Amino acid sequence: MTDLQQRDRRHLWHPYTQHGTETAPVAIVRAKAASLFDAQGREILDLISSWWTCVHGHAHPALNEALCTQAGQLEHVMFAGFTHPRAVELAEVLLDKLGDRFDRVFYSDNGSTANEVALKMAYQYWRNRGEAGRNLFLCFEGDYHGDTLGAMSVSKGSGFFTLFEDLMCAAKTIPFPATFIGDETIAAREQAALAQLETILEAHRGQIAAVILEPLLQGAAGIRVCRPEYLRAVTERVRSHGVLVIFDEVATGFGRTGKMFAFEHIGLAPDIICLSKGLTSGYMPLAVTAVSEALFAQFSGPDFTKALAHGHSFTGNPLACAVALRSLQLFDEEDTMHRVQEIQQRHLALVPTLKAHPRIEKIRVLGSILAFDLKGGRAGYKSSESLFLRDWYLSHGLNIRPYGKTIYLMPPYCITDTQLDRAYEGMLAGLEALDSSQGGS
Ligand SMILES: Cc1ncc(COP(=O)(O)O)c(C=O)c1O
Repeated sequence: MTDLQQRDRRHLWHPYTQHGTETAPVAIVRAKAASLFDAQGREILDLISSWWTCVHGHAHPALNEALCTQAGQLEHVMFAGFTHPRAVELAEVLLDKLGDRFDRVFYSDNGSTANEVALKMAYQYWRNRGEAGRNLFLCFEGDYHGDTLGAMSVSKGSGFFTLFEDLMCAAKTIPFPATFIGDETIAAREQAALAQLETILEAHRGQIAAVILEPLLQGAAGIRVCRPEYLRAVTERVRSHGVLVIFDEVATGFGRTGKMFAFEHIGLAPDIICLSKGLTSGYMPLAVTAVSEALFAQFSGPDFTKALAHGHSFTGNPLACAVALRSLQLFDEEDTMHRVQEIQQRHLALVPTLKAHPRIEKIRVLGSILAFDLKGGRAGYKSSESLFLRDWYLSHGLNIRPYGKTIYLMPPYCITDTQLDRAYEGMLAGLEALDSSQGGS
């Protein structure tokens, strides 16, 4: 163990980490594009974009410059009673990309808080309109919306938070018919799921504040995907009951699914959208909860009573806004979405090889995302197989972190074709190593 790792071990408490069993964390001292480098100069391909954040890759010169320039002008100012150019410019550019349905941006710091804000907005929206009986939230089973209390409440089905259930607000799950390439049962499963949704909507008429959904892609549940047809049908049915629709696009936003936002796949925008992760391309903690003018108008009044009582010390931080603004400009300047399409094509070209593999099933490709399950694999979040593979991949210079039996790639869009080939090769070689370790042929 290096000196840094020893000092880390002495003083730090890492996220989602069992310190009783985990090996020492890898110390990264430098990063560039799709690569991380440790102190010895060893390269690790960041194939999950550092928790799906750095969409343009690490240390992009334009983002570095935007950050440095902003630091020289204004590093921070409180955001109640004050504003600044980058916050306004970012809101304008982002709203332009989000389209007609959105007019207002509320800033916060991360995906959990973006969702927390959305839930509070939805809850208060009904109260401000005089409908105090709407206390219930719906979400997909398996959804993960973050680690704060409200976000955990609508992430019950993720399996992470059973311990905290007594603390949670009222939430119910609706089915998420996960699908994959070649799935022949999906249409029937979707029909059954929609019938179940209808029953829930009827049973709780007038009680539901909002439905919050991970649209098309459930990340933490194991990179599960549903069809756009299903998401569209759910959105329409929920709307027909007068319930607000929140899309948590924390993971799907900014090109991940092949479109700038996942809602574009269904041609229907939600009432509230939550964004983070790719917003600053992994540079700074920043999140957005965006709504329409009509929704915003419900919070206005002659005194504070109807105002949204929510804010953070770092709301609208200028450094974060400056990088986010520059990151959005890069999408146009570098034709980033074209590269996402190319990555999707390369993933699709690999599908026949994956299909022919004896250990692989349930292959999914969605934009820059490639995922599959291990046949007969164990589902637990940190199953022995997933830990073996994670460590094997890392020792071979690949940051691939399987979820239970699911192996996936979610690379920065700047990844080169050569690097992608290395990723595919390594990913499959890891499965051979797993087989050997389990005494297979
Ligand atoms: C869909 C989704 N929502 C919310 C979150 C929580 O975001 P954060 O970790 O920034 O709080 C995540 C994180 O992975 C996510 O994938």
